[in-house]
Amino acid sequence: MTGVQTCALPIWQNFHVIYLDLSFDELKARLLRSKRRPLLKVEEPEKRLTELYNQRRNFYREAAHQIFVPDGNLSAARNSAALLDLLSNLGFDFEPARLSVDLVERSYQILIGDDILAQAGRLVDQVDGLSRRAVIISNGTVGPLYRQTFAAGLKKADFIVDYIEVGTGEKYKSLDEANNLYDALLAKRADRDTVIFALGGGVVGDLVGFVASTYMRGLPLVQVPTTLLAQVDSSVGGKTAVNTARAKNSVGTFYQPRVVISDLETLKTLPPRELQAGLAEVVKYGFLAGSPFIDLIENSLEGILKGDFTKLKELIYRCCAYKAEVVEEDEADRGRRAVLNYGHTIGHAIEAASGYRRYNHGEAVSIGMVGAALIAKQLGFIDDELTARHSRLLKSVGLPVKYSDLEPEVLLEHLKLDKKRQHGKHRLILLRDLGEPVIVKVNDELLRATLMELKEA
Ligand code: NAD
Ligand code: GLY
Repeated sequence: MTGVQTCALPIWQNFHVIYLDLSFDELKARLLRSKRRPLLKVEEPEKRLTELYNQRRNFYREAAHQIFVPDGNLSAARNSAALLDLLSNLGFDFEPARLSVDLVERSYQILIGDDILAQAGRLVDQVDGLSRRAVIISNGTVGPLYRQTFAAGLKKADFIVDYIEVGTGEKYKSLDEANNLYDALLAKRADRDTVIFALGGGVVGDLVGFVASTYMRGLPLVQVPTTLLAQVDSSVGGKTAVNTARAKNSVGTFYQPRVVISDLETLKTLPPRELQAGLAEVVKYGFLAGSPFIDLIENSLEGILKGDFTKLKELIYRCCAYKAEVVEEDEADRGRRAVLNYGHTIGHAIEAASGYRRYNHGEAVSIGMVGAALIAKQLGFIDDELTARHSRLLKSVGLPVKYSDLEPEVLLEHLKLDKKRQHGKHRLILLRDLGEPVIVKVNDELLRATLMELKEA
């Protein structure tokens, strides 16, 4: 392999040209195998190939900024990894950002990048001990958009790939759909080495995670989140779940993925309302982490809402870094992890009371965070400005900050079912100050008054 060379031909100045300098024998083996090479449809193809090779090789070498000699003993995935290493050493940014979740033997990396689905094989190849047998599970919305690119990426690293589609929507996060998946996996002869890829939003991630953790007592799982909410929250930390008729997320497991692959490119097809729902969770991390992160979010929102995702990579990275740190400290959700539910206690009650139809998760959490801020203000924890900052920021995303068509008393009944409730008192995550979440006992009266204030006039 040569070093950097300056290309003499002006036409190439705006490109970076790489010449993959295969040996003549390798070229011959590949090209003479192919029936689709018109220039070689001649009487003596090898002689013709030799002539073309000799004519062109010097020109290719001169035109290239980089000459890369693939190692014939390595797979295509390994060779592309070496090539990407070379380019990133030269300052090209092809590599996803990497973040570790350190959980001893369950540790894994979160990879966040642009257009990385097509590199899936190379990226998964870097995880130890995974077989080459893959099943991608997605839904009828995300599958048609991304399964082919993703499968092609895996196949480049010699994965054998199967595909299963589940129903679209929260109602398919169910034991019935899990059962359908067990059957489909059995039909495809999936065994304990088969790697399961959950390609989709939080619904697919939770359902597929649950199935991967229980089918044959656990198969390796890779989360490939395609919504902003899933990239900043549900794909990280190992909570899996299905809903039952009576309660959301009531059956589930803790099961960490082997790697998380977040491709920003997938967010470009996300409906605006889903992007806003994800931004509600981003804002949540901002209030939890405090300055300067909340300021960065505030300054980035306008661009993101206009479709400029340049800042999103850093925001996703920082949200995941916050969540990773919390999960590392409290994987089993016995203590600090509860802070990740800022705004969720009232939010869950709003979602449930409206039958999971009127408000999506992010919208309900948005109203819930405003409720938490009002309570914190009443308790003297935070001032008017920080309280107003909640509404201002969430409104600027286009998220609701009040609910309508629901009765406070009905919400209160739902709040009494909250898992965190103890000895007849509600336990809410509040801010003692910006970036200082605490769990606080709150009585019915204060909660009722807040719910009344949160109701649209
Ligand atoms: P979702 O999975 O329902 O996705 C929202 C919609 O967008 C769906 O219709 C989906 O098909 C579609 N979609 C997904 N990716 C797309 C893309 N790239 N382009 C176009 N359309 C796309 O919703 P969500 O907000 O991602 O996840 C919500 C779920 O996550 C809830 O079930 C919630 O309970 C769960 N959740 C779990 C955790 C956890 O820690 N496990 C945390 C938060 C939320
Ligand atoms: N989404 C909250 C948690 O993972 O704990």
